[in-house]
Amino acid sequence: MSRTNSAERAALDGAAASVGDTAVSLSEAAGSSSGSRSPQATASPAIHAADLSKRFGGTIAVNSLSMTVQRGEVFGFLGPNGAGKTTVVKLLLGLARPTGGEALVLGAPLGDRETRRHIGYLPELFRFQALLTAKEVLRLHCRLLALPKAAWEEEARSALETVGLLERANDRVGTFSKGMQQRLGLGVALLGDPALVMLDEPTSALDPVGRHDVREIIRALRDRGSTVFLNTHLLEEAEHVCDRVAVIDKGTAIATGSLDELLGRHSRVRLKVAGPGASWWSSLSRFGRWHRQDEWIVVDGIDPPRIADLIDELVALGARVEAVIPEHQSLEARFLELLSKR
Ligand SMILES: Nc1ncnc2c1ncn2[C@@H]1O[C@H](COP(=O)(O)OP(=O)(O)OP(=O)(O)O)[C@@H](O)[C@H]1O
Ligand SMILES: [Mg+2]
Repeated sequence: MSRTNSAERAALDGAAASVGDTAVSLSEAAGSSSGSRSPQATASPAIHAADLSKRFGGTIAVNSLSMTVQRGEVFGFLGPNGAGKTTVVKLLLGLARPTGGEALVLGAPLGDRETRRHIGYLPELFRFQALLTAKEVLRLHCRLLALPKAAWEEEARSALETVGLLERANDRVGTFSKGMQQRLGLGVALLGDPALVMLDEPTSALDPVGRHDVREIIRALRDRGSTVFLNTHLLEEAEHVCDRVAVIDKGTAIATGSLDELLGRHSRVRLKVAGPGASWWSSLSRFGRWHRQDEWIVVDGIDPPRIADLIDELVALGARVEAVIPEHQSLEARFLELLSKR
């Protein structure tokens, strides 16, 4: 290692405040105090926002947003470019101040320093110190989190393993591809077993394997009881991992619910049925709107649990049911429908 590099590393290592806009666990401002969440705080929702608003000059980035994210859920925050997703995350993390409304995160007011210790954060845009190795970046963030020094090695190893970078542990970040940097950023967000992990477009730089890996990591976080807040405009990502989603547009939530709630009302079933037909029609109409499509009968707007009842009824009427294909409106179609109504 050259003298300059050593000096730069020493400066970086010693200057927690210089981390700036790197991927952080929101701990650097928390100091070295340790503590655990109070029972009341644990019983509270992970996030509760009421009329949260943020204005930048004439731009309303967040407009009276109200939402609740329960503990342990994977919550997707979906919206087009400029919808206000990143701004909401920054407000919730205390990195920007709201101009209206209020919110509680892990039961604490916005910006609470102790609470930051329990939040992992992968920012949308970040840059790590190019001269540090992956392991050094993680150790630096362990230090910023005020984790006990004896735990740093295992924390760093475990994070590297989780994000698939163990073999690159001792390589400098400056030599990493952008996907590897994003994996490292995710690793940083996982340090210290956070109760809440906020991921702002975590797969934007990742290949399909990386995207799959991130989904697995998110599921593993849920399995261990963490809450995950996932900003994304990748609907497939939301469809695969989220328990609930909010669709956000122009700074406000235009729909919130489980994917079933968001899509289920619009479900349809496609049937192939043989046998004497005349007696079916009145049955079909009671389950939804129906029409013929080639050899198929398509029933729109059917409640998914009622599909089995419909089949029972058709069979009782002497029909031979050859195929039943339930179909949901895709999230993409629903998303575009919601946005087009605005
Ligand atoms: N620091 C800022 N100063 C002025 N305007 C800002 C600032 N940050 C965000 N905005 C504006 O707020 C709005 C919401 O931006 P934001 O970055 O939150 O959107 P986003 O949903 O995260 O978009 P993307 O999907 O492109 O990341 C945009 O109109 C943006 O120009
Ligand atoms: Mg954004």
